[in-house]
Amino acid sequence: MLLFKSCGLLVLAVLSVIGAPVGTPKPAAKGRATLSRSKSLVGKGPAAKAPAPATAAKKTVVKGKGKGPTSPGRAAPVAAAGAAAVPSTAQTKAGSSIAQKAHNLIDNIHATDDLIIFDSPAYSDANGNTIVALQTFASIRQIDLHKVTNAVTGFLKTLHVDVGNSLNTFQERVKLLGAIGLPHKSVPFSVPGCSGTAQSGQTAGLPDLGISLKTVNLGKCGAAHEMTATATLSASDKRVMKGSIFFSPNSGFGVISDIDDTIKVSHVLDKAKLIKSTLLEPPKAVPGMPEVYASLAKSLKQPQFVYVSGSPYQLYPFLNSFIDTSYAASKGPILLKNLTAVDPVQTIKFITGSNTQAYKVMQIDRLRAMYPAKKWLMVGDSTEKDPEVYAEAFKKGVNVACIWIRNVDGSANTPARFAAAFAGVPKTKYRVYKDAEIPSLSKVNVAGGQC
Ligand SMILES: *[C@@H]1O[C@H](CO)[C@@H](O)[C@H](O)[C@H]1NC(C)=O
Repeated sequence: MLLFKSCGLLVLAVLSVIGAPVGTPKPAAKGRATLSRSKSLVGKGPAAKAPAPATAAKKTVVKGKGKGPTSPGRAAPVAAAGAAAVPSTAQTKAGSSIAQKAHNLIDNIHATDDLIIFDSPAYSDANGNTIVALQTFASIRQIDLHKVTNAVTGFLKTLHVDVGNSLNTFQERVKLLGAIGLPHKSVPFSVPGCSGTAQSGQTAGLPDLGISLKTVNLGKCGAAHEMTATATLSASDKRVMKGSIFFSPNSGFGVISDIDDTIKVSHVLDKAKLIKSTLLEPPKAVPGMPEVYASLAKSLKQPQFVYVSGSPYQLYPFLNSFIDTSYAASKGPILLKNLTAVDPVQTIKFITGSNTQAYKVMQIDRLRAMYPAKKWLMVGDSTEKDPEVYAEAFKKGVNVACIWIRNVDGSANTPARFAAAFAGVPKTKYRVYKDAEIPSLSKVNVAGGQC
């Protein structure tokens, strides 16, 4: 995937306006999305999606090396960069120790900040402690909603999509596209039922501005599947910021599920319809799927449901409330892509043309590391790369109980495509289904080895 050329410059401009510490953007880290300007309006079909080297790259490889023509190489820690152009060794040493100090400065969440605690997966370590892979996003509370609204509605016009009388819904959905992330933020949080005290990871500087992902040891927690993490704010701040922690043992089943066009009607293949279903309309479940997932919740004895989607985290509040409402019996963490929102329109373009294969494989690898002994049912659809992603996971040795692919009209549904995607995967390990077959999925005895 190409780097969106002026991305770094825009971020720097925004940061200097708000007085935030500025660093040279490092190349995209593992799993982080980079924006592509040139192809962003090209179709979402397989042809439009070249593999993204930056997304696939391992962090260790990325370190210290520029990856593309616009990547200046990994920067010194955020606060220190921009000092001397060619520093001497002594300068570098002094600079990096200052940088280290600044880097270690932890800042709380203030009344002028906002924080999202994402619903996160938790697992057991060898000592029986509960470990949560907690993700948060801290941002400036004030959002220039007017600016976001104007920018995005202007872009929607080019797609002949009219906001009409859905303005409130629209503003709610695009709000986070205008959020400016904050680095160095970390909060203590409490989890009733757990013995440990916990602190969220420090939010990152560029390029994952405002995001943190950290494994936190919660001590002994009992056996509850869903717990609540609540941020401890200053006494005068009466807001409640919380997220769910979904614990699951390293045994039994898990369900890895895509969202768009697998469990939610999104029209991924039609850009204008995709935008409408994402930004303007009430979300609609794929008919029959809530019942299928509710039945899996029982037959697989409370499996860990994990929703892995290529959408950016700016859509998290929307998707989270959709799953809480329409899939209440199969709630679980939602893993979305890191994407620094520099320009709301670029984020929208990203939604309508992103590459997700390498990203999803990476998330599946993370889940496998958390629960090495779990068996996974993987559910996706034929609009994008789910067959290829899940088949790749199988071939990498992930313990796949079964792969279910919804055959969506209008996608590349040829026998040749599926044969290529599932080459090396036994026929007994996957199923491609039409909508008419959805009700019968509940009768498949996945726990008993059927697929
Ligand atoms: C997102 O950003 C955080 C903070 O930089 C990083 O630790 C994490 O690995 C990133 N997540 C993904 C999925 O790339």
